[in-house]
Amino acid sequence: MVQKNEKLTIALSKGRLLDEAIKLFARQDIIVENESSSRKLLLDSIDGQFRFVFVKPSDVPTYVEYGVADAGVCGHDVLLEAQAGVHEPLDLKFGRCQIAVAGKREVVGQDYNLLATVRVATKYPRITTAYFHEKGVPIEVVTLSGSVELAPLLGLSDRIVDLVETGRTLKENGLEVIDVIHESTARLIVNRASFLLKRDEIGGMIDKLTAALQEKVRSS
Ligand code: PRP
Repeated sequence: MVQKNEKLTIALSKGRLLDEAIKLFARQDIIVENESSSRKLLLDSIDGQFRFVFVKPSDVPTYVEYGVADAGVCGHDVLLEAQAGVHEPLDLKFGRCQIAVAGKREVVGQDYNLLATVRVATKYPRITTAYFHEKGVPIEVVTLSGSVELAPLLGLSDRIVDLVETGRTLKENGLEVIDVIHESTARLIVNRASFLLKRDEIGGMIDKLTAALQEKVRSS
């Protein structure tokens, strides 16, 4: 799939990480027009050196692992869940959030040993299963693809495992953090074959993003 001497294809996560990712590339004059009204899913950078594809966050590791994108930007949360075979050379430091267990106030502090099974709703079944197995707590995972905070309100689950950024969604739905499982930030990921076959181009991009991160720190 990966071919040498083509322009680099970068998969960007649509949603919360997109604006910051585009701004970071722009610091090194890698400009992609991000018109909010546009529904285009594939755009070249103005200098023609990069092609950007805009995909659902959880799909970024898939595009990169299969080599249809040479590199991608997605959250560490997504990578932990996907367990994709990709390189992760750079922490891009934005999109800071946590993957946390949360629930209604009455379940906070409840002793798991006193419960037969804990039912947990989440977009992260793998992370959730690993966390509770580690604790030796039997669980039933209810996998959802969004609006996970609704689950405890409607009695679908006792707890959720979800991303917490500002904490506003939890608060507005009367939920509290019970435990933080992982911290997360945006990461640059790279296809394994591209890493070798397009070493110069990938290396150049990593250098540019590293310089952009340093410049961002200096100017803040
Ligand atoms: C994420 C996450 C929480 C919310 C947390 O959802 O799943 O619902 O953001 O952010 P906060 O702590 O700043 O309130 P997202 O907006 O990606 O939509 P989704 O629920 O449809 O997945």
